[in-house]
Amino acid sequence: MCGIVGYIGPRDATPIVLNGLKRLEYRGYDSAGLAVIQNGKIEVRRDAGKLSRLTELVNGSPIHGTPGVGHTRWATHGAPSARNAHPHLGATGRVVVVHNGIVENFLELRDELIAEGVDFNSDTDTEVIVQLVEHHLAAGLDLTEAARHTFRQIAGAHGIVLMSADEPDKIVCARIGNAGGVVLGLGDGENFIASDIPAILEHTRRVIFLESHQMAVVTRSEIRVQTLDGALVTPKVNSIAWDAAAAEKGEYRHFMQKEIHEQVRSLTETLAGRVDFTDGNIRLPELHLTPELARNINRITITACGTAAYAGMVGKLLIESIARIPCQMEIASEFRYSDPILDEQCVVLAISQSGETADTLAAMEEGRRKGALLWSIVNAVGSQAMRVADGSIAMQTGPEIGVASTKAFTAPLVDQYMLAILLADLRGTLSEKIRRALVADLRLIPDVVGRALAREAEVEKVAWALKDVRDCLYLGRGINMPIAYEGALKLRKYAGGMYCSERPLAR
Ligand code: F6R
Repeated sequence: MCGIVGYIGPRDATPIVLNGLKRLEYRGYDSAGLAVIQNGKIEVRRDAGKLSRLTELVNGSPIHGTPGVGHTRWATHGAPSARNAHPHLGATGRVVVVHNGIVENFLELRDELIAEGVDFNSDTDTEVIVQLVEHHLAAGLDLTEAARHTFRQIAGAHGIVLMSADEPDKIVCARIGNAGGVVLGLGDGENFIASDIPAILEHTRRVIFLESHQMAVVTRSEIRVQTLDGALVTPKVNSIAWDAAAAEKGEYRHFMQKEIHEQVRSLTETLAGRVDFTDGNIRLPELHLTPELARNINRITITACGTAAYAGMVGKLLIESIARIPCQMEIASEFRYSDPILDEQCVVLAISQSGETADTLAAMEEGRRKGALLWSIVNAVGSQAMRVADGSIAMQTGPEIGVASTKAFTAPLVDQYMLAILLADLRGTLSEKIRRALVADLRLIPDVVGRALAREAEVEKVAWALKDVRDCLYLGRGINMPIAYEGALKLRKYAGGMYCSERPLAR
């Protein structure tokens, strides 16, 4: 998924956008670019390669101005190259776009534009967006209306940000479908746009999440959210509790190492306010569970992808053994294709760190369509999986920046354990003695995890001993089977060198 940052306000957009892109580096990318409006013209710097390459370009040929937009790209259509890197200018050079998603009907749209004499300058699907906007501008529309027409013409799921040198007082953006979020950050006399919260966290914690099929016109002083049909929307302004320091890696070699060590804190916070160790009760108010609702449930389907799915496999065992409710775990990418049997006595429980994984959201939509109750366990506050659910449990882990999930794996294990106890209690199937014993065990978790983490040096020795082996077998039964899957997934990622390459381990 691509990273997006935008800024409009009195300050120079260049360093703000570059810094924001830096905070999104964890997503992985093959190209990066930046555009600002400088002296009434759009200036673009972009190339294949890392952000250091973009910084080099900007230092070699500085650009300063406002507003500004930036982008980190994972190539889908067109190889990683300067010509295919975002931002993309339209034919007049007066409009520019950055984009996350795939324009599914781009071939037909491009053919129509080529037939009208438009020259394309890249091999990307994205370029049709900006060329279409220019086409509508030429027909006399203003930027907002030209953008709206374009957003309605393109098929697929998208996050899009547009800027025009002829209307430098605004940025127009949209979210269509589930290609990732568009977050609008509210500042004081300035505003921000990003694909992910960490990109703008150092500037503001007050954010609006665009819903699918919404667009926004962002100026220095206001953010006007509307549907693609033009109806004004009063958006909810969310306060993000994470602080900017939580998105820094501090003394750690990489975010994954930092986040592994944050588990003691995240698990302590997972329990805080939810477990009463005096009376042995669990409280999960955001689920809106009542005894009647709990008794009405006859099946729970957990759905998720990757690491979250392994957490869900553990949850299945916990819910069945503690709450005695039939439960299954379905990989979210398959769920909607399996014509699942669901009704209003079923719960679909989605687990997702980001709350924006397209397959998980599609599985939730399938659950909604078939009348099931929708729950989610999500880390990213305000994300789509949290918003669309009837009830949710917020993981209390803070931002997870490392691409390989760590603390967002252990938190939902505890969340599901608490959920299982609560369900059993509300259904009246758990004796007080057992409930108290199960709850008492929760108190041990932070300490047990802390002691395991204190053995990092020993683990590192084992890692060195194993680093050249060709095959590794993870074995586990019962609740340890998903743990084995998760361990194997982590070893594959680590061995591939994908996520921990910032600084090699010291021997
Ligand atoms: C593995 C990993 C991925 C994610 C998966 C789901 O460690 O990070 O497999 O678990 O892509 O992502 P979320 O939880 O954001 O829905």
